[in-house]
Amino acid sequence: MALLKHAQRGKKILSLFKLAVLISGSGSNLQAVIDAVSEGTIPDAKVELVISSREGVFGLERAKKHGITNMVIGRHDNEKLSKILEDNKIDGIILAGYLSLLPADVVKSYSGKIINIHPALLPMFGGKGFYGIRVHNAVLTAGVKYTGATAHLADREYDTGDVLVRSIVPVITGDTAETLQQRVLEVEHKTLVRAVKALTENKIDELVTRPVTFVQEEDKEGLHEFAHGLIALGRALTDADNGEI
Ligand code: GRF
Repeated sequence: MALLKHAQRGKKILSLFKLAVLISGSGSNLQAVIDAVSEGTIPDAKVELVISSREGVFGLERAKKHGITNMVIGRHDNEKLSKILEDNKIDGIILAGYLSLLPADVVKSYSGKIINIHPALLPMFGGKGFYGIRVHNAVLTAGVKYTGATAHLADREYDTGDVLVRSIVPVITGDTAETLQQRVLEVEHKTLVRAVKALTENKIDELVTRPVTFVQEEDKEGLHEFAHGLIALGRALTDADNGEI
């Protein structure tokens, strides 16, 4: 009856895009998605479920605080995971620091609707064994000038799906793996939110065709050259402070 009244008044009845966020740790990326949904940066979406592969992680506390249904599902309990996603009519999955591969049937049913955030510029420093502080140690050992974060579509391999959004972080003299990890984590949030927004707005294909790269004006010399190289490769560049350019 209530629905009918709405329709009669000519109002649009929206169905929210239901997200399941999968975590294994502190959940700061989860928090970024929750905040973006509640602030309206990601409109018409809802974080329906938070699933952790580990007991006792802080990400579960964040879910509780926001009244989001949350649970622990062990990394080998594939059937349970598939059923929960189905029972809750989940539309898309976000891997926010989730340290396992998804079961094949989930990857198949959610093809093009699973986003992972990785703390480096893929395809560099990605794949099996590249997680947590190990990624940043590898970046320092390689001696590269830039690292960053990548949001990409997830498949049955580690870190191999189509890139959607990247953010660039310069490596600076004196960086340790820990300082780098902290600076990269800060840009991960914005990177992930940009990709999740596209997912919930059914615009993932646009990012697959033309991934977005965030750069920061204050980043040191060489970055503009790097950015022009990306433009030459057909990438869309985004000024981190002023929006897309
Ligand atoms: C992030 O660096 C993420 O990219 C990586 O694990 C970390 C998780 O951070 N895969 P949080 O749990 O979102 O705070």
